[in-house]
Amino acid sequence: MGNVFVLDHPLIQHKLTHIRDVETGTKEFRELVDEVAGLMAFEITRDLPLEEVTIQTPVSEATMKVIAGKKLGLVPILRAGLGMVDGILKLIPAAKVGHVGLYRDPETLLPVEYYVKLPSDVEERDFIVIDPMLATGGSAAAAIMSLKNRGAKNIKLMCLVAAPEGIDLIHRDHPEVDIYLAALDEKLNDHGYIVPGLGDAGDRLFGTK
Ligand code: PRP
Ligand code: URA
Repeated sequence: MGNVFVLDHPLIQHKLTHIRDVETGTKEFRELVDEVAGLMAFEITRDLPLEEVTIQTPVSEATMKVIAGKKLGLVPILRAGLGMVDGILKLIPAAKVGHVGLYRDPETLLPVEYYVKLPSDVEERDFIVIDPMLATGGSAAAAIMSLKNRGAKNIKLMCLVAAPEGIDLIHRDHPEVDIYLAALDEKLNDHGYIVPGLGDAGDRLFGTK
């Protein structure tokens, strides 16, 4: 069974509180999501393999460590996942970025896929699926399935805020996937929104409401 990691570093918690605040406007919301994504990436990449290289410092030759050329892929779920990509790329600039386009039907709450574009070497990459919200879990579960159907073998899921219902669905459909969160919230309301949550992440990021 994949693990759930709540990355509750004080900086993440502080910034997430401002993200949640209804008074936070689009510009600040976008900046904060970008910053929190970067802070979370720092923790998610903790297990990246290292290799030794020999370099020359101004003083002597030395054997030191660098990241061992691991192939990583980021896959934001459109639209809201886009808001987290740049913050992660600042730390892992060589990562390739795929996209899965999904929206949640407001009546059925079921995900509808409208776009998929992944790096060509899917089978050789480790992927991080990115979405600020894990509510019913339908969108993330569908995105992970989309990657698996195209050959992806090693997938992590990174979200800002999750509801227990979403965690349960990922555990049921993709039990091997590790889930990284900034917060695990209380529940979903009758409209499928996370409580207390942060509202509609896509609308708040792009100013469409
Ligand atoms: C939101 C959010 C997730 C999804 C979560 O996207 O960004 O993708 O809902 O809900 P779920 O876990 O119940 O599937 P939305 O459908 O609003 O699309 P958008 O990103 O284009 O705004
Ligand atoms: N999608 C969002 O953007 N917010 C929620 O709370 C649930 C789904």
